[in-house]
Amino acid sequence: MLEKNDIKSLDRQFVLPTYARFDAELVGGKGSELVGADGKKYIDMGSGIGVNIFGAADPEWVSAVTAQLGRLQHSSNLYYTSPGVLLAKLLCEKTGFGKVFFSNSGAEANECAVKAARKYAAEKRNIASPVIATLSGSFHGRTLTTLAATGQDKFHKDFQPLTPGFIHIAPNDPEAAASLEKIPDLAAVMFECVQGEGGVIPLEKDFVAALVRLREKTGCLLICDEVQCGNGRTGTLYAYEHFGFMPDVVSTAKGLGGGLPIGATMMTDEVASVFSPGDHGSTFGANPVCCAGALNVISRIDGALLKSVREKSSKIFSALSGARGVKSVSGMGLMIGVETERKASDMLKDCMEGGVLCLTAKTKLRLLPPLNIPDALLDRALGVIIDCCGRGIC
Ligand SMILES: Cc1ncc(COP(=O)(O)O)c(C=O)c1O
Repeated sequence: MLEKNDIKSLDRQFVLPTYARFDAELVGGKGSELVGADGKKYIDMGSGIGVNIFGAADPEWVSAVTAQLGRLQHSSNLYYTSPGVLLAKLLCEKTGFGKVFFSNSGAEANECAVKAARKYAAEKRNIASPVIATLSGSFHGRTLTTLAATGQDKFHKDFQPLTPGFIHIAPNDPEAAASLEKIPDLAAVMFECVQGEGGVIPLEKDFVAALVRLREKTGCLLICDEVQCGNGRTGTLYAYEHFGFMPDVVSTAKGLGGGLPIGATMMTDEVASVFSPGDHGSTFGANPVCCAGALNVISRIDGALLKSVREKSSKIFSALSGARGVKSVSGMGLMIGVETERKASDMLKDCMEGGVLCLTAKTKLRLLPPLNIPDALLDRALGVIIDCCGRGIC
């Protein structure tokens, strides 16, 4: 085992400096508790940015993954393997979609969604130069196409030229949604039902209804980016269910794998009909180990778990709303943004010192705990967070 200072110096010397890391090394954990190399215990209110939805080293998930690992770790998509088809079947049965494409990350799941929208526009609507609208404040990934889709200029700087064909409109502005009708080459609108990196902001029902009317009038596709808000995170299997409509395409990742890299793009049979062998692919896509883990995750997101996500959410909302130093609480389910009087970065540091790992989203503190965090740990974490929010505030 390396000493922390050695890890830090090797990281500085050999790893591309794209991450600002905290001064802690995590070495293990059990459920919603993580352990640092110095033996310090942390309550996990971030789940590795919404990934470890059943916490660390969940025994059921570990045994599903290790059983597959002991059989066959990889085969390529030249051959059939059962975990991928079983996962695709389960996702389709639970959502009503017709087909699934597997990749390795959220950005790649969105790349597939964009390719689906472009191919559908070309083949079914004879559109040569398709336009995809996304929302200001959105986040869709770090590849050049998903950066172009991301409605935040700060991510675009120095990476021009990005993939063309994207425009951005204001979220929660039904008139802006209706005005898209004037764009003849509109292929799709892509959006997060709850913007995550943009500040944990749920879309308003009127705005989503305006997008659904736009689809009826123009034939454009509606793509939901459920990379962060999907897989039970908001108290339904996918967040679009709160809004009473069926998207044409849904991308997801993060919590789907429970800790292993997997992305999925689900689509209707109508959209899927434009794809043939060779149109898209991924060497690691549908990797049997990742799919075995995801199969375990998706099969455990049932009514009882979703009910308890909603109950834990109410507990967090009522504990934090009106607490000293808290300006507002936003979000849905266990995807929560807390606007604090103190700077979010200071809050994060103090919470960590107090043994609670949180995240930030823009100027807010962001909470994405494991979906099965025990109430006793959640209460303790909320105690620390509330104490940090009120620190130094009269
Ligand atoms: C909504 C959304 N879409 C896409 C992504 C990109 O996912 P990945 O980092 O797995 O490529 C993220 C990551 O934070 C996200 O929150």
